[in-house]
Amino acid sequence: MMMATFMGLLGATELIAPDLSGNLSWIVFGRVRPIHVNLVLFGFVTPGLLGAAFYFLPRLLDTDLYSEGLGRVSVIVWNLILVCIVLSLAAGYSQGREYAEMIWPVDMLIVIVFTLIFFNFIMTVAQRREPLLYVSVWYACAAIVLTGLTYCLGNVIWRPDSGALVGIPDAILLWFYGHNIFGLLLTPLSLGVAYYVIPRVCRSPLYSHTLSLVGFWSLILVYTHIGTHHLLQVPVPTWLKVIATVDSVGMVIPVMVVLINLWYTAKGRLGEIHADIGGKFVFTGTILYFFVSIQGSMMALPQVQRITHFNNWVIAHSHVGVLGFAGMIALGGIYYILPRAVGKPLYSRYLADFQYWLVLIGVVGFTVVLTIAGLIQGNAWFNGETIYRVLPEIHMYYIVRASLGLIIFVAAVLGFYNIVRTIFGRPAETVVVEGSPTRELLAGSESGLAHQESGLAHQEVAS
Ligand code: HEM
Ligand code: HEM
Repeated sequence: MMMATFMGLLGATELIAPDLSGNLSWIVFGRVRPIHVNLVLFGFVTPGLLGAAFYFLPRLLDTDLYSEGLGRVSVIVWNLILVCIVLSLAAGYSQGREYAEMIWPVDMLIVIVFTLIFFNFIMTVAQRREPLLYVSVWYACAAIVLTGLTYCLGNVIWRPDSGALVGIPDAILLWFYGHNIFGLLLTPLSLGVAYYVIPRVCRSPLYSHTLSLVGFWSLILVYTHIGTHHLLQVPVPTWLKVIATVDSVGMVIPVMVVLINLWYTAKGRLGEIHADIGGKFVFTGTILYFFVSIQGSMMALPQVQRITHFNNWVIAHSHVGVLGFAGMIALGGIYYILPRAVGKPLYSRYLADFQYWLVLIGVVGFTVVLTIAGLIQGNAWFNGETIYRVLPEIHMYYIVRASLGLIIFVAAVLGFYNIVRTIFGRPAETVVVEGSPTRELLAGSESGLAHQESGLAHQEVAS
């Protein structure tokens, strides 16, 4: 996260002072931007959420991870990929398609690592002792298999030289995949973590198992094919635009079903959420999920997008989604799981709290300034004004954005320090009461299994 946010900060600074990098090719904006974006996606948010999935899957399935060795190999390959991403993009080896910039050899490594992880997950599911599949398991497995598949399509891996088709079909394919990075990778992984952490922190059963499955399947049904809402200003077939717009608005169903379920689980227990730093990050992430999704549904309306497209409004939306929703939940997962995984107490709750506020201030601040800047740009261009008149108007907002970016970068450094000190800190006594956790989490109204009655507590109490 430190490296990723630093690249964001560098990019933001270059937007204020374009000559700052002295035209050093490795750090020109055009290269810094994709490094920032790919590092936040593949270097911070996705691995943060996947780490949590590796932790909760065996626990929810009441078994061991199928292969620790395979898991370690996946981590090594994953880190190798990150090094390749930074070096290749900085050196100018890019396929120039957003979220699919990586050259073919890196693409292949990414496909391989997703295959390894999926194999490990699915074999863990196969050897489970817990018959009920809790919804977090569904989300984690679906995210991996769907992303592995759409990554191949979106990166046109059968054309190693260009990684692209030609013309409009290429744009459609790219955004089918590009959109799925948020909809079928970050969203399900984040929701899987939220469904795991919130009931545990609240010490209360999930409100409804049925609703959790309705939320899962409606997400798969609706989210998979709305990528064309990124192309409403492009001459793609109208029927595709109509489907994308209608189902983007329809996204309100999977979003609200999930949120009602999670928020009802936490009803009356906000004190518990507030007392647990992991829960606090995750719960805040769910609130921002609400905002980013409502905003997204609005942005998919052609009349709205005429103003909001191609300007900082979208960058605001991106940061609320990827940092405010998925990033916050990734951080929450880390803070909930890390002390339990290493058997040591968190080094500093105070630092984690401080980091929480810095990230929250940063992301809310980003939203405000970038939305205003976006509206200025959108209206100016809508009225036919030229770009050299608009840029000075938004300069001040770029300065504020970079300052807020500095805050987020500082938060990342503090988080890193806290995590390292936790890992190398003094061990705590750990009491593990074995049992099947899934029923405990499922014990919602319709399953009839009362939380207390199940008596299957699986809680690692770090003292
Ligand atoms: C109901 C849910 C959502 C809907 C309907 C939606 C809709 C949209 C639309 C219409 C755009 C294109 C805007 C334009 O180019 O003018 C967009 C862009 C984007 N969305 Fe969402 N969004 C949703 C949720 C999310 C979430 C949860 C995330 C993050 C996890 C996210 C991340 C992004 C990003 C990063 C972009 C920028 C893509 C680019 O580089 O152009 N969105 N969204
Ligand atoms: C972990 C935290 C962060 C996440 C998850 C994140 C995510 C993203 C994403 C997904 C995009 C692509 C947006 C799009 O194409 O629509 C982006 C672009 C960008 N981000 Fe971040 N970001 C983070 C932190 C930062 C920070 C600290 C800064 C510093 C100011 C920053 C500055 C930028 C800039 C300048 C762009 C390019 C905007 C443009 O092209 O106009 N980001 N970020």
